[in-house]
Amino acid sequence: MLLLLFISFTLLLIFFWKQNNYWKSRNVKQVTGTLFKFTFGSRSLPEYYKEIYDKHNESQIGIYLGRRPAIILKDLRDIQAVLAGDFQSFHSRGIILNEKETLADSILFIDDLPRWKILRQKLSPAFSSLRLKTMFEGIERSARDFVEFIENSGNDQGLEEMPFNAIYKYTTGSIGAAVFGVDVDQNTLDTPVLNITRKALEPTLKSIMTFFLAGTFPRLIKWLDMMNFDNYETSFIDAVKKVLENRRAGEKQYDFIDVCLELQNHEVLRDLVTGYEIVPTDELLAAQAFFFFVAGADTTANVMHFTLLELSSNPSVLKKLHAEIDEVFQDEKKSLNFEDMDKFKYLEMVVNETMRKYPPIGLLQRICTKETNLPSNNLRISKDTIAVVPVLALHRDERFYPKSDAFDPQRFAPENFNEINKFSFLPFGEGNRVCIGAKFARLQLRAGLAWLLRKYTLVPQDYKPVKFERSPFAVRDSKAKYRLINRTN
Ligand code: HEM
Ligand SMILES: *[C@@H]1O[C@H](CO)[C@@H](O)[C@H](O)[C@H]1NC(C)=O
Ligand SMILES: *[C@@H]1O[C@H](CO)[C@@H](O)[C@H](O)[C@H]1NC(C)=O
Ligand SMILES: *[C@@H]1O[C@H](CO)[C@@H](O)[C@H](O)[C@H]1NC(C)=O
Repeated sequence: MLLLLFISFTLLLIFFWKQNNYWKSRNVKQVTGTLFKFTFGSRSLPEYYKEIYDKHNESQIGIYLGRRPAIILKDLRDIQAVLAGDFQSFHSRGIILNEKETLADSILFIDDLPRWKILRQKLSPAFSSLRLKTMFEGIERSARDFVEFIENSGNDQGLEEMPFNAIYKYTTGSIGAAVFGVDVDQNTLDTPVLNITRKALEPTLKSIMTFFLAGTFPRLIKWLDMMNFDNYETSFIDAVKKVLENRRAGEKQYDFIDVCLELQNHEVLRDLVTGYEIVPTDELLAAQAFFFFVAGADTTANVMHFTLLELSSNPSVLKKLHAEIDEVFQDEKKSLNFEDMDKFKYLEMVVNETMRKYPPIGLLQRICTKETNLPSNNLRISKDTIAVVPVLALHRDERFYPKSDAFDPQRFAPENFNEINKFSFLPFGEGNRVCIGAKFARLQLRAGLAWLLRKYTLVPQDYKPVKFERSPFAVRDSKAKYRLINRTN
């Protein structure tokens, strides 16, 4: 590991000194040293992009990621082209995963277009409204288990230490419930498969560095033959195989495992247009399930965490939200159903405002696979150039969100929401590669927050993040704290 770090830092340094003039020679504003700053700095890459975005008024800024030219986009027309309009040229993220890995080769995040297409096609039904409605049972159960967990772990005032871990327990639990189904007498937050999953998800320095380096130094990664996910992967796949095995004998539960079994009714999955085929093996399906945790657990936990931090700092928003929650829960409701979720209108505005101010994924990127022009000024983009959509910077841009550092859910009131250009609000991305779990995540967020805030309120404080955690893509502040107290106290 140390050797790897040493080698990569040295290479970074060399690239840094061998300054590139690719952008300068094309008359594009150029900024160098971004990767150097990130590597030796203490902030997240989305923040460094925001710094560049705010400092320069040009609508395109050229940078370098390793030797590769990258361009930070500010004009919504260019962003629309990259995420949606010009899919031909921008269908890949340029994040190379190790082909030897079952997981890396099979997940929906991959770059291989025909492979991605068939996977996306076959997995989409897992997130249809009908499926979501049945999966909601698991999410809701998990939300109640979560509040019970907090009740049991705190003193009579509530939970004091590390709320982030508690929330993470809920988000992994509810994804687990939706993926594997629920047992009547099992706590959704504590199942054997979840234990393995949580271990596998613990971010190691190695996994973070790999993820980051892979996009920048693909050859280095291949050379070092690094794995993207650790050996826990095998135990996770084994665990899923067992669940599949048991379920083949048992009855339907309407969860993701059922979708898997349905897919396995076919020997091969075929794309009718391209003719591309894949075999729905246990491994392939387990890989999808695993990736749902990778993509969904930390992201939703961060949204809940930031929502609670902002609510602790905005008493009037909290008060209004409590009123809505009490109204939906009237008559001492014992459980929420799928239809109830639409009644949380204000909660939805609050959650959107949280994801605006703190987009869990603070940047999107696409690698150009076919030479093309950007629409705003016809700038030629050649193959292998990375297009960066600086989500955090866009979400804090005063052009789109006046007083952008203020937490104001009214921005998402129906009459104002219509004014927001969808390419300036990108918590889940946009276009063909938009987050497949967005609706699922929204249900999870609303259910968890509704149950929690029905029971608890927050001790007022003044939360002002100074900077976020050092991450190549995420916006996190998991050490920040707030205090929950019983509403009846
Ligand atoms: C608040 C929670 C979440 C956020 C903020 C989020 C955000 C994102 C973003 C920004 C992308 C990339 C979009 C792009 O490149 O244009 C993405 C992709 C993806 N997300 Fe999510 N996500 C969340 C929850 C989930 C959940 C719960 C699941 C699964 C159950 C999930 C599964 C995926 C998958 C599979 C992809 C890759 C899609 C593809 O390449 O076709 N996400 N997500
Ligand atoms: C950018 O700023 C410079 C000086 O700060 C100004 O001359 C120029 O007109 C600005 N360009 C745009 C597109 O606003
Ligand atoms: C999961 O792990 C925890 C400790 O790490 C343990 O207390 C618990 O019993 C485990 N649960 C299951 C179902 O294996
Ligand atoms: C929240 O944002 C999503 C887009 O991500 C949108 O579909 C939804 O209508 C928004 N809700 C509100 C209340 O603004």
